[in-house]
Amino acid sequence: MALGQVLHGVVVLSCLALGVWSVITDSQADIIRTAVRDAIDVNEDEGGTMVLRAGLVRLAFHDCVGDRCDGCINMALDDNAGLDTYINYTDHLYDDTDVDGYTMRELGFSRADFWALAAVEALDYSTEDAQSSGCRRTGCTYVYADITYQQGRVDCDTSPTTTEEADYPSGIGDTDHVVDFFKDTFNFTEQETTAIMGAHALGAAHRDASGFVGPWTERQKQFSNQYYIDMFDGSLGWEMVQKGTRNNRVYQWTSANSTSSRMMLNADMALIFDIGDTTSEGEVVDCIYSTCPDATGNTEYWALIYANDNEYFLEHFGLAFTKMINHGYDSSSDVLSVSLR
Ligand code: HEM
Repeated sequence: MALGQVLHGVVVLSCLALGVWSVITDSQADIIRTAVRDAIDVNEDEGGTMVLRAGLVRLAFHDCVGDRCDGCINMALDDNAGLDTYINYTDHLYDDTDVDGYTMRELGFSRADFWALAAVEALDYSTEDAQSSGCRRTGCTYVYADITYQQGRVDCDTSPTTTEEADYPSGIGDTDHVVDFFKDTFNFTEQETTAIMGAHALGAAHRDASGFVGPWTERQKQFSNQYYIDMFDGSLGWEMVQKGTRNNRVYQWTSANSTSSRMMLNADMALIFDIGDTTSEGEVVDCIYSTCPDATGNTEYWALIYANDNEYFLEHFGLAFTKMINHGYDSSSDVLSVSLR
């Protein structure tokens, strides 16, 4: 029997004795993270509209909506449209990455653990990209999101798909909808809700998935507080525009004064505005960007703080993200920490 197998057995047995299923070591986590980073590079070399690093972050969020993070997505739900592309990518890594002579499946590392780890790596990579422009020659000291990664999530029997229903938030929802969703699902405060929405600095919406179109920020591969900066920037010329398809018409906020077609959902703008009544397609009828009243509650307060302080945002985002990816587990007994840096 190879030494690796013996050591692996020792780790598993000692963790079983603790009552927690731990299957990968810190160094094996590094191997998996490198594989994720390589896959992100390949995806971006190939071009295309589905940006893997962003999809991994969205996948981790959608996996954790419902009772717990369980490595299962109901692809029959419109809310999950587009995630199949990212699941296919990650399944290829799950079954093909050589982790000390084993695949992740062979090690018994759950998909839910893998999806959470892949999202952490995508965030770290994108954080480095956001901070590296000014420091390439002198060497970079990065400030990362304050995420604690733990393993021990349990997949549903049919992973990676399921027929279980789950309630996802609507892109055309107002402040109450967003705040209530995160309170009910993850027991988030308004501060945590405001921080977690900063994930929308990454990636884009796709007409053939949600119907919405375009990236939130100009640099959709960089993770920073840019989402909040843009939201408060009236010079971008935010106006409501109809998008979608014939069977799925939706309104979004689109920037008329930028070449990158930046957009925001009502659910994003609702952090800072009370958008009032909307039509069934999400068109705001009572106000425009310059006249919508401030959101009631604390979300606008936190959005403004994050717009002005990237490090504070990264700290708060990381804490909220950690809580989200441990949803359904007791972080002191069900899951074990893995040291990532
Ligand atoms: C009120 C809450 C939220 C709503 C309504 C919402 C809605 C959406 C919608 C409509 C899309 C576009 C999907 C597509 O067309 O491909 C999207 C993408 C995305 N979401 Fe959210 N989201 C919410 C919260 C979150 C959270 C909590 C995270 C992560 C922590 C997240 C991460 C992302 C990312 C990274 C993308 C871009 C994916 C890509 O580029 O393919 N979202 N979201």
